[in-house]
Amino acid sequence: MDWDSLDWEVLDRLRETFLTDVKTRGPYWHTITDLECYNFTYGERIGWKWDAVLAELKQRGWIPPSGGPVLDWGCGSGIAGRRVVDFFGAENFPRLLVHDHSELAMEFSTHHGRRLFPTLTVERAGNQFLESDEPIGVLVVSHVLNELNAEARAQLAALAARAQSIIWVEPGTHEASRLLGGWREQLRGAGVNVVAPCTHQNACGMFAPGNERHWCHFFAAPPANIYADSQWVKFGQRAGIDLRSLPYSFLVVDRRPVNQAAGYSRIIGEARHYKGYAKIFNCDASGLTELMMQKRDAPELFKALKHSAGPELHQWTHVNGRITHIES
Ligand SMILES: C[S@@+](CC[C@H](N)C(=O)[O-])C[C@H]1O[C@@H](n2cnc3c(N)ncnc32)[C@H](O)[C@@H]1O
Repeated sequence: MDWDSLDWEVLDRLRETFLTDVKTRGPYWHTITDLECYNFTYGERIGWKWDAVLAELKQRGWIPPSGGPVLDWGCGSGIAGRRVVDFFGAENFPRLLVHDHSELAMEFSTHHGRRLFPTLTVERAGNQFLESDEPIGVLVVSHVLNELNAEARAQLAALAARAQSIIWVEPGTHEASRLLGGWREQLRGAGVNVVAPCTHQNACGMFAPGNERHWCHFFAAPPANIYADSQWVKFGQRAGIDLRSLPYSFLVVDRRPVNQAAGYSRIIGEARHYKGYAKIFNCDASGLTELMMQKRDAPELFKALKHSAGPELHQWTHVNGRITHIES
């Protein structure tokens, strides 16, 4: 697939599907071309979010558990599962399994998985596997939450209960992020450890009274040349997407103990800069707090926060909404 062979009308129909209830009424991939067009555009953009998440996992020193297969559930074109296997190395996984309620999606994903990883077994997760107790090494979930009915959520919960680890990426919208936060609380209650995005294992501050309007989200960096590419610009306009902004929410959990250094904070969304100060919506073990950082207190960091991309993990103390001490 390339820009010349891309079928823009297919993309228009997919956009309509994603924006309406059609997405919840059953499989919506009509042809392999639908998946090719999706994979080349929407899927590629989702891949950039996965790149950000995987880079953060590397930064945190996280590696996938050995043993069980990777299962990409709700795989669509399979971009998420391929990103994960590619990032950690196909040699580190026994199998890549894909599942979707669309036959076409599984066909596309297995085909492209096998092409990219010729030495790895890539196959559909059959019913036998889905209904078994077999452990799953990494359960990969991407951009599915707003399409699921109660039955699908129950199936996903049963798979999550078998997973050694889960890497889950969703759009950075209020709705998707808070739904994902609900899964975090459920999984945490079942005894799994939170690897990311959190800097702590406590209850999610987003669900504390008064925080209903907030949501846990971050921004990934799209490839640098994207705004100069007239085809991507055309895609952005036609799909109604701001290419400069790549908001995402995510959750990574693990049954193994998590080595999490105490005292870290995370910036939710982005720092907002004003004359001489910045406002930061801060998450740490004590909950969520709106903080103010004076430029004069930390000019370098103040500047860095303006242009930063990637995980905003910091070590600072705060009193009454003001950052009082920053670890270098
Ligand atoms: C927006 S696409 C995302 C695809 C892919 N995970 C990605 O990130 O690009 C959502 C996918 O979830 C699948 N899906 C929706 N409901 C499902 C269900 N109940 N069981 C399995 N797959 C489902 C759809 O068929 C579709 O392929």
